[in-house]
Amino acid sequence: MGTSARPVIRIFDTTLRDGEQAPGFSMSPADKVRLAGQLERLGVDVIEAGFPIASSADFEGVAAVARAVRGPVIAALARAMPDDVAAAWDAVRLAARPRIHVFLATSDLHLSAKLRISRAECIERSVAAVRQAVALCADVEFSAEDATRSDLDFLCHVAAAVADAGATTVNLPDTVGYALPDDIRRMFTAVGRRVGTGITLSSHCHNDLGLAVANSLAAVEAGARQVECTVNGIGERAGNAALEEIVMAIDVRGDALCCRTGVQTTELYPTSRALSAVVAVPVQPNKAIVGDNAFAHEAGIHQDGMVKNPLTYEIMRPESVGAPATKLVLGRHSGLRGLDARCRALGHRLRVEDLRRLYTKMLEVTDYAKSVDDSDLVGLIRDLDAPGLETAFDAVGARVRDSHDETSTGHTRW
Ligand code: KIV
Ligand code: ZN
Repeated sequence: MGTSARPVIRIFDTTLRDGEQAPGFSMSPADKVRLAGQLERLGVDVIEAGFPIASSADFEGVAAVARAVRGPVIAALARAMPDDVAAAWDAVRLAARPRIHVFLATSDLHLSAKLRISRAECIERSVAAVRQAVALCADVEFSAEDATRSDLDFLCHVAAAVADAGATTVNLPDTVGYALPDDIRRMFTAVGRRVGTGITLSSHCHNDLGLAVANSLAAVEAGARQVECTVNGIGERAGNAALEEIVMAIDVRGDALCCRTGVQTTELYPTSRALSAVVAVPVQPNKAIVGDNAFAHEAGIHQDGMVKNPLTYEIMRPESVGAPATKLVLGRHSGLRGLDARCRALGHRLRVEDLRRLYTKMLEVTDYAKSVDDSDLVGLIRDLDAPGLETAFDAVGARVRDSHDETSTGHTRW
């Protein structure tokens, strides 16, 4: 199937709501407006801006985003309660494209231990809240909280009832990150059969077992056409499915997943860093797509491959996600090839014997430092006092003459 014929998966960003609920991630209304502007540049389809009944700051944040950001749908969350739905509508009604997002738990555990209501009451309250929302707003989403631990027949029943009441999107969250991809596929297939094609099914996966992205993709395979996720995967406990990972999985493996998104992938890295700056929480270095090490290579074998052809060790290029260029990090595991590439990038073409002397000095530095940065390297090159002629590599980094290890101690890595 050609790329443009693939169905579009809507990206529902809940960084400003589920993400903000995580400890240490709260955001002021001004922060939310700033981030929502960046999410709009990123090209997400829906921005869930907050939970208006929760606090006046939450209400203000949603209302400010609704006024300021005109492209994406702006959603406001509400429990299945009349005051919540009214507050959600008040906050979001000035949006160009408002959505009310109503939720109620459907698992027996939540119904009995938390809500203390019966299944029949659950259906009654869900339908009443959706009807109230539909009377206010054309775009209404219903979420069956703890869907993955709900009785599947009952879940299908609730989904059909809220669809009949006018919900246009039905979301099936893995609220506690418990499901495996096969569970998700089974659930989406069953609910999809029950509600038919007029309803958009949505996934919302938490990451307690580290499966949020895999589960979201399983949902897509089983018919979900909206995925709820957060930038950098922030969210309750272990977080939500990471937006940048879902988008790039679909972008890189669209051949297998047979779908696409409308996201501007070059805005992924800037969005990640904008969030990190607003909440003052750094991104973990090994974070997929946006971490500092996502496009960094230290091992000599990898650096050798990268210099010859980046496809050897990169399945996407950093520029495709707006990240800084690939880094060949000089450390204990690096080889001559990486060192030579770094020297060339700094404007130094060394003779092979000087490169070897430099390599030995670099290894001495890595005895006490984790890596050798550009200013350290320039200092080492200066100390060499080398004429700076040429190395055994030509301009594109291919080896001109095979001098590999002829004179080396056996520890030199190309
Ligand atoms: O995880 C969850 O179930 C939620 C719902 C409110 C959508 O965040
Ligand atoms: Zn959630």
